[in-house]
Amino acid sequence: MVKVAVVGASGGIGQPLSLLLKLNPLVSELALYDVRLAQGVAKDLSHISTNAVCKGFDKDQIAEALRGAHVVLIPAGVPRKPGMTRDDLFKINAGIVKGIVTAIGQHCPDARILIISNPVNSTVPIAVETLKAMGKFYPGNVMGVTTLDVVRAETFLADYLIAQKKNSLSKQFDKTKMYKDVTVIGGHSGNTIVPVLKKKPLISTLASSYDEFVQRVQFGGDEVVKAKDGAGSATLSMALAGYRFAEQVLKSIHRENTPPIPTYVYLPGIANGVKAQAKLSSSLEYFSLPANLLDGRVTSVDDTILDSLSPQERKLVERAVKELGSNIDKGKKFVNGNA
Ligand code: NAD
Ligand code: LMR
Repeated sequence: MVKVAVVGASGGIGQPLSLLLKLNPLVSELALYDVRLAQGVAKDLSHISTNAVCKGFDKDQIAEALRGAHVVLIPAGVPRKPGMTRDDLFKINAGIVKGIVTAIGQHCPDARILIISNPVNSTVPIAVETLKAMGKFYPGNVMGVTTLDVVRAETFLADYLIAQKKNSLSKQFDKTKMYKDVTVIGGHSGNTIVPVLKKKPLISTLASSYDEFVQRVQFGGDEVVKAKDGAGSATLSMALAGYRFAEQVLKSIHRENTPPIPTYVYLPGIANGVKAQAKLSSSLEYFSLPANLLDGRVTSVDDTILDSLSPQERKLVERAVKELGSNIDKGKKFVNGNA
């Protein structure tokens, strides 16, 4: 019996994400909370003939929505408009995330918390510091969802390889298998996003397209914001990405073995997190690395990925480490004062 709560369930991401969760047989109860429209979304989904019991909760019902939840997904908060950075969302979303995580600490402190709200580089530290202040922080429970970067990297890598090899390759190419070739580490904004090719010869195969590939993965979010022209940011691809991550968490709760999946985590709380920090030559507390899950929680990260970086990837990591520091500090200060 697994209860999943979605906080921000009526939004652009929340609705399709809740739909996908309603279809998952590993979910027995789906609690949809939002400050608007959650009853309507839940009623709509409740007519789907799958077994998850779907209930909506109004603005003043967050306690009921969260009580007993094993997994909480948070896509609550405002999205970007053209010309904005994710950090520009901090002003509004920092308070939203802090409020929601405080409620989680009160009503379902053991829940695995999957944070989608931007800026992820800062909202995850906000969540961790909030729970620490409440004495309710359990390392490995708080996960920043960076899966959309992985999904984009898989798509764009395939596109560039197909474009290069033209017709000879296009027929054999299966985009759904690109996870074998690429993953993404670092943070979730611009230069902090670092695609890592699992087969290094691909860098020379990409040749002059390599830099463009990296750029598109790092700034893919901007492409969507621009194309939506003021109506928001990625919602459908994000719902798929958030679901892909949640699915692994759910499988892990059901004792299935799951492959390592990148997520932005608090490294000092993870078994080999300090080792990963040493390999990053940094005291940086947060970084996304492929994570091993047990019972839906991060138990360790794959630090060996940091040993196998190409010189280009190593440079990208160094730049990411530099930029992430201030994002993390900003989140910590928001909770602990001085911000
Ligand atoms: P949206 O505006 O369509 O939906 C947000 C929802 O959150 C709304 O329904 C709103 O009512 C709700 N909300 C606001 N305050 C709330 C609160 N205190 N409690 C509960 N619900 C609340 O926005 P969206 O497009 O769904 O994006 C949501 C967030 O996800 C944004 O911050 C966006 O930047 C972020 N995002 C992250 C990623 C990622 O890769 N991690 C990808 C895309 C978008
Ligand atoms: C994304 O990567 O699409 C999200 O973080 C939303 C955004 O603001 O770009």
